[in-house]
Amino acid sequence: MAFTHGAFLPLFLHLCLLSWSARAKVTVTMDESVEVYLGDSAQIPCQYSFTDANNEPSFVMIQWFVRRARNSSRMRIFYGDGSQQIVDNNTDYTGRIQVTSDQQGTRLTIQKVQLSDEREFFCQVNGLAAGTAEGKTHLRVFAPPQAPVIEGVSTGISVTNEIPSKVASCEVQNGFPKPNITWYRNGMPLISTPGYVNVLILVTREPSAFFSVQSTLEYKVIKEDKDAYFSCEVSFYVPGAVRTVESSAINITVHYPTTMVELWKESPQGLVKEGDTVELRCQGDGNPPSPFIFSREQELDVDLESSSDVLVLSPVSRKDSGIYQCRPLDTDTHTDVKGEMQLTVHYLDPAVVVPKDSEVMLKGEDLTATCNALSSLKTSTVWYKNGKQVGKGNTLHLQDATYETKGEYICEVTVPSLPALHTSGSVHIIVQGAPQLVGADQEVHLEEATGRMVNLSCEAEGYPLPTISWSIIGSQDWHEVVSKANEHIIHSVVSVKVTSDISAQCNASSDMGTEVKTFSIKAIPRVTTTAPFSPAEGSGVIIVVIILCLLLLAILGSVLYFLHKKGKIPCGRSGKQEITKEKTTKDDIVVEMKTNTKNEEAVLLKAVNGDKKGPNDQVTIVLDQQGE
Ligand SMILES: *[C@@H]1O[C@H](CO)[C@@H](O)[C@H](O)[C@H]1NC(C)=O
Ligand SMILES: *[C@@H]1O[C@H](CO)[C@@H](O)[C@H](O)[C@H]1NC(C)=O
Ligand SMILES: *[C@@H]1O[C@H](CO)[C@@H](O)[C@H](O)[C@H]1NC(C)=O
Ligand SMILES: *[C@@H]1O[C@H](CO)[C@@H](O)[C@H](O)[C@H]1NC(C)=O
Ligand SMILES: *[C@@H]1O[C@H](CO)[C@@H](O)[C@H](O)[C@H]1NC(C)=O
Ligand SMILES: *[C@@H]1O[C@H](CO)[C@@H](O)[C@H](O)[C@H]1NC(C)=O
Repeated sequence: MAFTHGAFLPLFLHLCLLSWSARAKVTVTMDESVEVYLGDSAQIPCQYSFTDANNEPSFVMIQWFVRRARNSSRMRIFYGDGSQQIVDNNTDYTGRIQVTSDQQGTRLTIQKVQLSDEREFFCQVNGLAAGTAEGKTHLRVFAPPQAPVIEGVSTGISVTNEIPSKVASCEVQNGFPKPNITWYRNGMPLISTPGYVNVLILVTREPSAFFSVQSTLEYKVIKEDKDAYFSCEVSFYVPGAVRTVESSAINITVHYPTTMVELWKESPQGLVKEGDTVELRCQGDGNPPSPFIFSREQELDVDLESSSDVLVLSPVSRKDSGIYQCRPLDTDTHTDVKGEMQLTVHYLDPAVVVPKDSEVMLKGEDLTATCNALSSLKTSTVWYKNGKQVGKGNTLHLQDATYETKGEYICEVTVPSLPALHTSGSVHIIVQGAPQLVGADQEVHLEEATGRMVNLSCEAEGYPLPTISWSIIGSQDWHEVVSKANEHIIHSVVSVKVTSDISAQCNASSDMGTEVKTFSIKAIPRVTTTAPFSPAEGSGVIIVVIILCLLLLAILGSVLYFLHKKGKIPCGRSGKQEITKEKTTKDDIVVEMKTNTKNEEAVLLKAVNGDKKGPNDQVTIVLDQQGE
C-alpha cells in the first residue's frame, strides 16, 4: 500500500465526512450519449443537485473518468474542487479537455474528437457530507464513409448456372461506425434469399480505426436481367440521423440460350431468278448469338456450308428451290428450335418457236406459228417483224401470205413480275410463188427521140428467185446496165438506143411461172424533138436571128425596089399582092449555125415575115449549142 500523499488526503477526508453527514444527498444527471462528428469538439454536461437544498455542502469535489480502451478499468482525466482544477498528466486527454463548472453542474469539453474517444465518460461528484454520486455518458463519434464504388462482372453470366453467380461488388471505405450496404435491382432492394440472392460482406477495420465494407452480390440471373440495372447503397449513422448514398448503376451481360430462330432471305430483294446469288440469314434470340447449321428439309442430315449465320447460294438454279432450315448450335438437340423458309427460284427457259428456223409458205397460204418458253411465272409474248409489233400472245396467225409476209418474225417472251427474265426466238418465213413484177404498170409506153438511149427497168419478186430475160425488137443496140438480185427480188435495167420504134419484153420467170412486162417506145424524129432551153441564152439567139431577118428583109426590099424601078414588077395594090404570091416560090433561107457539138440540142425557131399573108416565107435556123 503506497498511496501518494496527494491522493491519500482527499480519500481520507471523504471517508470521514461520509460517516458524520448522511442526511444531505447528491444526485448526478447525465445524457446517456452525446453524438459528435469526428474532429468536432464534444460537450458532455454533468448536472448535479443536493436533496437538502438548505444544507448544500461548501466543498464539492468533481472528477472525470474515462473507461480504458483495452480493459474495463477506469482512468481519471480531471480533478477539480473549490481551490484547484487539475487535468491529469499523461492521459489521452491531457491538453485536449476543458471543464467548466457553475452552480448547477459541470461540463467536459473535448476538442478535436477522435475515433478513440468513442467511450464512456464518468462524472463523479463528491459533496462530503452529502455523499458521492456519479453518472456516465457514452460519447459517440461519427465519420461518414466515402461514396460507394460498384463494379459489375464484365464477363457474361449464364442463366443456366445452377447457383447464384457473382454479379457485382460494392465497396465503401472509411466510415465510422460500420456502414451497411444494401443491393438494388431496378431500384428495388434485393433481399437475401437462399438459392437466389446471396450477399457476402467483408468488413475491414482499418489501422486508422475506420471501417471499410465490401459487399459481393451473388445472384441467379434470368434472361430479363439483360435489361436490368444493379446498384448498391450505403447507409450510415450521423449525429441524430441515418444517411444513405447510392452508387452508380451497372448492367450485366446475360448469356441465355436460343429459344427462337428466324430465317429470311437477305438478298436479292424481291423474286429470285436462276443465276442470282442468294443470301439467307439466320438470327436467333440467344446471347451471345449462336452459330447456326443450315440444311434443306429434304435432306436434314446434310449440313450446308455456311458462315455462322449466313448461307450463300450462288448461282441458284430451280433445283435450289425448297424449304431451308437453320438450327442454333448452342441449344441441346432435344429442343426443336429452328428457323424455316421457302426459297423459290424462278426460271424462264429458252423460247421454242414452231415452225423452227425457217418455213416456206406458198403465196396465199395460212400459217400459225407458236412461241413457247417454259417459266415458273406468268409470261407475256409479243411478236415483232422489222422492229414493229405484229402480234401478241404465243401464237401468230399469218393469213393469205403475200411476198410482204416474208421475213424474220421474232417472238419476245418476258416475265412481267420479274423483268430480268426474258428470252426470244425467231422463225424465218419464206413465201414461195410465181414471179411478180414490182411496180404497177405491166405495159409501158414511151416516146423517145431517135438516136437517144433509153433505160428500161424491170424488177420482179418471187421465190424461188426468178430470172429476167429480155427480148427487144426494133433495136440491135442494147445492153444490160444494171443486174442485181437479193434473195427475193431481181432487178434488171437495159439501156436501149432508139433507132426506130421499139417493142421490148421483160420476161421474169421461175419454176413457179412467168410474168412479162412490155415496153413500147415510139421513136420521134430528131428535128421535131423539142427540148427545153434556157430562156437567157435563147433570147440572145433570138436577137441575132431578128437582126439577120431585118438584114435580109432590107436586101429583099432593095432588090424588089430595084426591079420595080426597072418596071419588071407592076406596082399598085393588086400588084403588091401578086408579088407576095409569087414569092411563095422557094424562097426559104436556111441558116445553120454550128458550134462544137457533143450533146445534141436542137432549137427550132420560126421567124415569119412581117406579112402574115405569106406563110411560106419562113426562116429556119437550127442551132446546135454546146452545154445545154
Ligand atoms: C488496465 O490497464 C492499465 C494500464 O494498461 C493497468 O494499469 C491496470 O492495472 C489494468 N487493470 C486491470 C484490472 O487489468
Ligand atoms: C504535471 O506535469 C507538470 C509538468 O510536467 C507539472 O508541473 C505538474 O505539477 C504535474 N501535475 C500533476 C498533478 O502531477
Ligand atoms: C446496419 O445493419 C444492422 C443489422 O441489420 C442494423 O442493426 C443497423 O441499424 C444498420 N445500420 C444502419 C446505418 O442502417
Ligand atoms: C447497359 O449496357 C448498355 C450497353 O453496354 C448501355 O448502353 C446502357 O447504357 C447500360 N445501362 C445501364 C443502366 O448501365
Ligand atoms: C441508164 O442507167 C445507167 C445506169 O444506171 C445510167 O448510168 C444512165 O445514165 C442511164 N441513162 C439514162 C438515159 O437515164
Ligand atoms: C419467158 O421465158 C421462158 C423461159 O425463158 C419461156 O419459156 C417463155 O416462153 C417466155 N415467155 C415469153 C412471154 O416470152
